[in-house]
Amino acid sequence: MGDPRLLEQAQAVRQFGTPELRQLIGDMQDTMRALDGAGLAAPQIGVGLQVVIFGVDRNPRYPDAEPVPQTVLINPVLTPLSDEMEEGWEGCLSVPGMRGLVPRYTQLRYTGFDLDGNAIDRTAQGFHARVVQHEVDHLNGILYPMRIDDLRNFGFSEALFPGQSLQDD
Ligand code: NI
Repeated sequence: MGDPRLLEQAQAVRQFGTPELRQLIGDMQDTMRALDGAGLAAPQIGVGLQVVIFGVDRNPRYPDAEPVPQTVLINPVLTPLSDEMEEGWEGCLSVPGMRGLVPRYTQLRYTGFDLDGNAIDRTAQGFHARVVQHEVDHLNGILYPMRIDDLRNFGFSEALFPGQSLQDD
């Protein structure tokens, strides 16, 4: 947080299946796995393209979270399916050591493309929907602290959740 590249609008990917795109996604997957994250957006590694990855198999940091399919999502479009929102705690690899309580839509549809340009069209709810909203925000220059309603609900993980070894996502 503080790097101006995180505040920019990412550009749409025009060509799918290229070696460059494959390399970018490989780098993102390596980074996400090394840091044990739930998702990552290309601007977080300094690349201003509309590429996000996310997925949660079983994560000790989200013991109650339902699994989220491992996904590469390019040029995403989100459509909320209701006005209902709920608050939940989020962290971010670009805001290390911190957590904040963030309102997100509970149900949405997302569309986009995979690495090879195949269309993706899914509905999601709950934690899955939250992860997608967090990652797509990165493509629009938005970091989760900007969405916190009450900044008293923003702080260091150690202070907010003493005794829990929360890592960053
Ligand atoms: Ni993030």
